[in-house]
Amino acid sequence: MVSEKFRTMNLHMSEAEQQINPPRHIAMIMDGNGRWAEKHGQLRVKGHEAGAETVDRMVSLCAEIGVEVLTLYAFSSENWERPALEVAALMRLLQHYLRRETGRLRERNIRLRAIGRLQRLDLPVRRELEKACAETAAGSGMTLNLAISYGGRDELCDAARAVCREVQAGQYACEAIDHQHLAAHLGTAGLPDPDIMIRTGGEFRISNFLLWQLAYAELYFSDTLWPDFSREELLRIIRDFHQRERRFGRVPGR
Ligand code: IPE
Ligand code: IPE
Ligand code: MG
Repeated sequence: MVSEKFRTMNLHMSEAEQQINPPRHIAMIMDGNGRWAEKHGQLRVKGHEAGAETVDRMVSLCAEIGVEVLTLYAFSSENWERPALEVAALMRLLQHYLRRETGRLRERNIRLRAIGRLQRLDLPVRRELEKACAETAAGSGMTLNLAISYGGRDELCDAARAVCREVQAGQYACEAIDHQHLAAHLGTAGLPDPDIMIRTGGEFRISNFLLWQLAYAELYFSDTLWPDFSREELLRIIRDFHQRERRFGRVPGR
């Protein structure tokens, strides 16, 4: 039987949205907030504020169509090098988002998770994040995975260190280390690899995002600036994804 809640949720969805076959894991590099602000004659922080609305749109759509994991690149390890005022504004926005959204995430059965060097965050932001993750931990619908203070190289270094410690402690032989073992030490342990990676903002690069996990992701680069990224564009990308043949190094059709 379709629950009342699901029926209400479906009322907001177009026919196209209801028919879409969801990928398991979508990862997004949310780029172009600064240029969006510049285009509108505003300060960069206004671009980040507008970008937060796109986050709401994407979280809603992905949860509604049944995506298992949505990973959003919110702040990179290199973004710490930005002017202090911008870093502070981004941290404030993150805190704001967590305060405002935790209840709504829980209502929608969404589990929040975070990857990155979270120990670098100021204590109030880290507390807010830990609280939001704890309060949504029972969510069995979509996982919203925020990459914050995240760098793929940092993540791989941290995993290498953890594995080294196990080897030093005699728990593992070097020769026993395989893909599964290393992946289990990454921030994304337990999550499927992304099927689709989307970067908005017109740049053709990965910028230290999920270096290990993107090995066989289908890549999409959009010129749309993140605050303008729409539900329709994401649906177009998902539809295109289903047309692609993922070969994983094998011979087609086998
Ligand atoms: C992405 O937008 C948000 C973060 C990196 C935090 P940018 O701030 O990089 O926007 P552009 O690339 O300067 O337009
Ligand atoms: C990537 O965007 C990081 C995030 C979106 C959080 P950047 O704007 O930092 O990347 P570069 O500097 O253009 O490579
Ligand atoms: Mg950028």
